[in-house]
Amino acid sequence: MPYKHLTGLDQINAEEMTQLLELSAKIKADPDAYRTRLAGKSLAMIFQKPSTRTRVSFQVGIYQLGGQALVMGQNDLQLGRGETLADTARVMSRYVHGIMARVFAHSDVVELATHATVPVINGLSDLLHPCQAICDYLTMKEHLGDLSGLRVAYLGDGNNVAHSLAYGAARLGVSLVIGTPGGRYAPDEAVIARAREDAKATGASIDVVEDPREAVAGARVVYTDVWTSMGQEAENERRLADLHAFQLTGELFAQADKDAIFMHCLPAHRGEEVTDEVADHERSVIFDQAENRLHTQKALLVTLMG
Ligand code: CP
Ligand code: NVA
Repeated sequence: MPYKHLTGLDQINAEEMTQLLELSAKIKADPDAYRTRLAGKSLAMIFQKPSTRTRVSFQVGIYQLGGQALVMGQNDLQLGRGETLADTARVMSRYVHGIMARVFAHSDVVELATHATVPVINGLSDLLHPCQAICDYLTMKEHLGDLSGLRVAYLGDGNNVAHSLAYGAARLGVSLVIGTPGGRYAPDEAVIARAREDAKATGASIDVVEDPREAVAGARVVYTDVWTSMGQEAENERRLADLHAFQLTGELFAQADKDAIFMHCLPAHRGEEVTDEVADHERSVIFDQAENRLHTQKALLVTLMG
């Protein structure tokens, strides 16, 4: 196993990304074959932010592999009283076989990975959400087949989810178009530059546009996420106003390919970034997508901790 941690999809290569998707499909098709794969192993999960999918799917996932999870909020740990992340990582490494962390600053998950002697998985940071993107590309593959050259539109805030979709696209040959209002909502320049560099090897393309119609035109996947991510609540009103034109309505969804699917990492703020009409559309795959968090994370746990 050439990679020890998963802090971001920039840390793995195209072949490793493809292998993760293949293993995910195998585990999904035959979960019983993996029932004891992580027997006796423990995963510590540290949450600085709330979670429904990440928390439940990791906890159930490791249980289905024969292991167990410990779920801790930041304030359940001495971290909340000033123990350093480095010491926390060193201590935890003496007890558990893997650490999953959901953090604000991306540097926190990098710091944990630097000092842990067991694998560290990023369960979302302000910069990246790699577990989400692995799940997203498995879902696209299941619904649409070959990912190479697949036209995917991401609409709204150029956030952690958009960044991980870009790194994933670069590894899988996907043609990703990110549509945002620009300025403070544009995706991180360094992430886009790195994704474009990596895209050269697979024929992927990563485009950033400021017109929602241009982003969506002809897309086979239309993806959106909340406009106010965790930690940005004080900006909520401003964000709702600034991103208004990027709301995915039935009318905008109709500009995509006639068989396009709708995706969202969830939680959705219905009536903000997406209308009920699209969220509940017959071509919305959001709950298949949510389910795939379980299967893809099991593949990740087997890869890193098996
Ligand atoms: N998509 C996702 O990560 O959901 P949670 O915040 O509920 O974990
Ligand atoms: N961009 C969102 C994703 C939630 C899963 C956030 O960071 O809050």
